[in-house]
Amino acid sequence: MTSGLLEGRRALVTGAAQGIGLAVARAFAAEGASVVLVDREGETLAAAAAGLERDAPGRIAHRVLDVTDEAGTDAAFAAAADRFGPVDVAVANAGVLVLKPVVDMGLAEWRRAIDVNLTGAFLTSRAFARQAIGAGVTDGRLILTSSLFGVRGGRDNGAYSASKFGMIGLAQSMAAELGPAGILVNCVCPGQVESAMLDSLFESRAIDRGTTAAALKSIFVERIPVGRLGPTAEIADAYVYLASRLGRYVTGQSIVVDGGWQVG
Ligand SMILES: NC(=O)c1ccc[n+]([C@@H]2O[C@H](COP(=O)([O-])OP(=O)(O)OC[C@H]3O[C@@H](n4cnc5c(N)ncnc54)[C@H](O)[C@@H]3O)[C@@H](O)[C@H]2O)c1
Repeated sequence: MTSGLLEGRRALVTGAAQGIGLAVARAFAAEGASVVLVDREGETLAAAAAGLERDAPGRIAHRVLDVTDEAGTDAAFAAAADRFGPVDVAVANAGVLVLKPVVDMGLAEWRRAIDVNLTGAFLTSRAFARQAIGAGVTDGRLILTSSLFGVRGGRDNGAYSASKFGMIGLAQSMAAELGPAGILVNCVCPGQVESAMLDSLFESRAIDRGTTAAALKSIFVERIPVGRLGPTAEIADAYVYLASRLGRYVTGQSIVVDGGWQVG
């Protein structure tokens, strides 16, 4: 059930072709927002946008973008503003999973994690802030998708975790800078989410460990107190909260949405 919590809002979500980003775009549209979906995978993105358009006619647009492209990111916000009016909710969600022990990691792999996850989030955040301030937005929301690995490290997580910790530092700093302008900045830190990203992790780890992806998945699930992986729609609810009037006094925070995995 939806309650029009985002009626009249104009959102842009990166990494929105699938997974968490698509679920966030869907939830925002269901709550009444206009949404621009952004991703580097054009075909998947166009199909995702067409799916949302059926339920929210006239309120969905999409744009192909690699979030490491500085000029392209600025242009995406300008195009979104032309289409629906100034963006007042931005979600920096595009990300890649790079898993390897630090001693085995090449510089190119390290840079890929930092470039997409951290520099991409910086470029999205900066483009949003400049556009929102320039357009006189006085109730803006910026939400970054960090991770549970943004608040703790873990085996094989050196690059990924460093990029996700960095996003929290970026968000806290921007919260301090942008609060006076009426822009709130927070992170969502998902735990283990039902997603293509996690499926590919199970597949590759299963081969390394001589087991099956299904067996590995059930070991993961046993460690989660609520006994299941996170459906993307349930992760997306945290973004709706932060983007809506319900989150109007929350800034500089990182909300872990993990079914208790951190404490389990
Ligand atoms: N899946 C999980 O369990 C999990 C847990 C914690 C955090 N996260 C984070 O959530 C976010 C979304 O992950 P997901 O699980 O939906 O993964 P996903 O792989 O299903 O989706 C990621 C999307 O980002 C897009 N993308 C990747 N690099 C891009 C780039 N350079 N420019 C533009 N788009 C790009 C991909 O095309 C894809 O559509 C990521 O930041 C990820 O690190 C995921």
